[in-house]
Amino acid sequence: MGTKRQIKLGAILHGVGGNISGWRHPDAITDASVNFELYKKWTQKAEAGKFDFVFIADGLYITEKSIPHFLNRFEPLTILSALAGVSSKIGLVGTLSTSYSEPFTVSRQFASLDMISRGRAGWNVVTSPLEGSALNFGKTEQQHPAHSERYRIADEYLEVATGLWSSWEEDAFVRNKETGVFFDPAKMHTLNHKGSHFAVKGPLNIARSRQGETVIFQAGASESGKQFAAKWANAIFTGQETQDDAKAYYDDVKSRAAALGRKPEEIVILPGIGPIIGSTQEEAERKYEEIANLVSIDKALDFLGRFYEHHDFTQYPLDEPFPELGELGRNSFRSATDRMKARAKEEGLTLRQVALQVATPKPTFLGTPEAVADKLQAWFEAGAADGFIVGAAGPNGLEEFVDHVVPILQARGLFRSEYEADTLRGNLGLPIPVNRHAAALPNR
Ligand SMILES: Cc1cc2nc3c(=O)[nH]c(=O)nc-3n(C[C@H](O)[C@H](O)[C@H](O)COP(=O)(O)O)c2cc1C
Repeated sequence: MGTKRQIKLGAILHGVGGNISGWRHPDAITDASVNFELYKKWTQKAEAGKFDFVFIADGLYITEKSIPHFLNRFEPLTILSALAGVSSKIGLVGTLSTSYSEPFTVSRQFASLDMISRGRAGWNVVTSPLEGSALNFGKTEQQHPAHSERYRIADEYLEVATGLWSSWEEDAFVRNKETGVFFDPAKMHTLNHKGSHFAVKGPLNIARSRQGETVIFQAGASESGKQFAAKWANAIFTGQETQDDAKAYYDDVKSRAAALGRKPEEIVILPGIGPIIGSTQEEAERKYEEIANLVSIDKALDFLGRFYEHHDFTQYPLDEPFPELGELGRNSFRSATDRMKARAKEEGLTLRQVALQVATPKPTFLGTPEAVADKLQAWFEAGAADGFIVGAAGPNGLEEFVDHVVPILQARGLFRSEYEADTLRGNLGLPIPVNRHAAALPNR
């Protein structure tokens, strides 16, 4: 492996897109969110572009106002298992909520994906921002755990999950036909976890993968979110829009990790970007306008409402200052809603302006391939990012990024031309975690 620090890249596979009206674009494939052939094509394109991973976001509650992609899409682990069979080097990262699942099942599912893909699995640990999720899991909205409680649950959940992943030491399975010894009982470990939220005996009924354990991703940016990330995350998906904000977040989380005794370079921080590329700046601007013009103000209000527990924004005048919302939004997408409210105040924005900005934001990374590459390089070299998660803003955005931006980054020595490894940890430059029990018994 080279010693020069290089950019890491992930690709969000997001079906028909994150823009509420993007499916109406002339080039959009309208069933993209449930089109396996397309997910396969995108994964293979990202792998040809030497991306570190593909990424599947997720949610657990929809209403008639949800964006089209959320209404009808693949469950992350299922689609990633299928993609494992049509790829060989690229990482496979999926979102799964710790608020509405059981750690025994989920540790087992990720360990299986990790085994199927020969060490390429990643888990984006989320805590489910939407209250409505409770209604799909036998609970009332009032029983949706509060923001800080969700992070406490997630913390214990990861204690359990990582404990279960240490159930079997590396060489536990002897499989000796002659002696009849299938496994060494001394190398099988029972967890016996009893905590405030979970009781799990173990062991897990699957061994460790070639990368030891599934890579932990995280994507929350509040105080509790950052503390959780500093403790547990191997990689972080963030949402800052400016280099200064990204740099502040980067320094904050890395110093929190150092304070917890972790090596800061073992956490890979990856802002999400939605690049729009054109052969000229004007063409890129035109492409943005084409997407933005698809979004009506009514759709933009629906999109905005989701961040605030599907709040009905049609009750306010459009061209007056963004309404005073008090605590609304702080129990769901806290970091995002805090930022929106602050920005509306600072810049004196109206409801119409906020809704359109949120529903169809003008990307920070917009322009010619060189201009986009320059900006990626600037963020990376300033220590505002270790890499990026590319969520293409238009229908052919991933292809355009791979064909036009990646070669520039490669020519500048900023991005790999060949994979260093065939596990996700290997490519992200992360060490293989030591089995808890093997670590406790160094001389055996
Ligand atoms: C870039 C980014 C991507 C996210 N992706 C998901 C997702 O796919 N599914 C989900 O349920 N939540 C997702 N979230 C929400 C977070 O997991 C978290 O619940 C929310 O941001 C509130 O936590 P926070 O206040 O700590 O940020 C994402 C958040 C960010 C910033």
